[in-house]
Amino acid sequence: MATSPRADTIAQGGDGPAPSGECIILGVTGGIAAYKAVGVCRRLVSAGFHVVPVMTATATRFLGEATLSALASEPVRKSLFEGAGPIVHTTLGRRADLVLVVPATARFIACYANGIADGLLLSTVLATRAPVVVCPAMHTEMWEHPALRHNLELLVERGVLVVPPEEGPLAGGDQGAGRLASPENILDGVTRALRRRELDLSGLRVLVSAGGTREPIDPVRVITNRSSGKQGHALAVAAAERGAEVVLVTAASLPGPTGASVVRVETAAQMEQAVLERAAGCDVVVMAAAVADFRPKVTASSKISKSEGTPELVLEPTPDILAELSRRRGNGQVLVGFAAETGDVAVRAKAKLQAKAVDLMVANDVSAPGAGFDCDTNAVTITGADGSVVEVPLASKREVADAVLDSVVALLRRDNPLPRSTK
Ligand code: C5P
Repeated sequence: MATSPRADTIAQGGDGPAPSGECIILGVTGGIAAYKAVGVCRRLVSAGFHVVPVMTATATRFLGEATLSALASEPVRKSLFEGAGPIVHTTLGRRADLVLVVPATARFIACYANGIADGLLLSTVLATRAPVVVCPAMHTEMWEHPALRHNLELLVERGVLVVPPEEGPLAGGDQGAGRLASPENILDGVTRALRRRELDLSGLRVLVSAGGTREPIDPVRVITNRSSGKQGHALAVAAAERGAEVVLVTAASLPGPTGASVVRVETAAQMEQAVLERAAGCDVVVMAAAVADFRPKVTASSKISKSEGTPELVLEPTPDILAELSRRRGNGQVLVGFAAETGDVAVRAKAKLQAKAVDLMVANDVSAPGAGFDCDTNAVTITGADGSVVEVPLASKREVADAVLDSVVALLRRDNPLPRSTK
């Protein structure tokens, strides 16, 4: 996939060609790692970015404002009520090509996730349409707290790129997870976020299915699976951000991502109808949903009572939507399947790719730690019908989504080097 000269420049460490003046708002919040924002700022400036620093009041207790003002492209901003035009946060939000928050405290993350525009930096991240990169740093107990994790999940679902902290020495002589990511990893996050802005799916229609279907036994009980839908929703967000017109057919109870048209379904039959109705007009169909393979043959119309004894459930197979899509597909449509496996994942995924006659099969070992169901991370192998194999090591579901879409784009470019649209 093509990368911008800017992305390559910072990937090489920052001392690159002439500046193009892209604007990065560098937010610094109040944690001990605030001093490390200075090093990041220097690298961004030498890579040719125009860096506008914004500090929270607490950040100024950890880092001298004069230091950051001297090294950035403009003096530090701290207040909603002074400088940079009549409305400071919207002016900054519109100027930004990217907002980078180094370090991001638990409080900042909580406020941002909940839309609390408390101060200049929070108002700016809520007022911008530019990509936002957040680099958390805190003590291990806070990093592992469910509230923090929940808030981060919300941000990732909305397309924020999180550069996770590392293990190592922490303030106060402690040791553990929560140390701010290295400058290299932070700059790599900036690179990836900027690459996302490449609208390489522009003019294309992409249909994504997500979530685990629920097959009713009676009005109360269902047969379902452990799929959270997070990977499919991340795919929809990523495709929309890369310029596609996205339809998301989802059985998950996650919020509908902005930028996608969302169709809610519950059962495999409903998913089949929703997908088949819409697939014909799409350039790419990604079946990330965990569609139930079996459903009760009969659904009881009223709740089955315990007093009736233990019921015997008779199951029947559900329609294989992906196989049907493959039978129906028109010229040039790219079909992507997912294979959640345990055990010999690569071999099974390849067999499935051939059996369903799709272009790409994304396989994940759902028994591996940090991969698969209900995690925020995933590790996958993307196998192509052309024999290509791309390994994506443990990464956020958003990053996995981008890797899958990179493979889709590579296929589209190979098959049709000219810009295309079937609209
Ligand atoms: O056969 P298996 O369920 O493992 O295949 C997984 C792939 O097939 C996924 O992409 C899934 O969305 C799709 N699938 C389907 N209809 C089914 C079962 C799975 O489209 N009934």
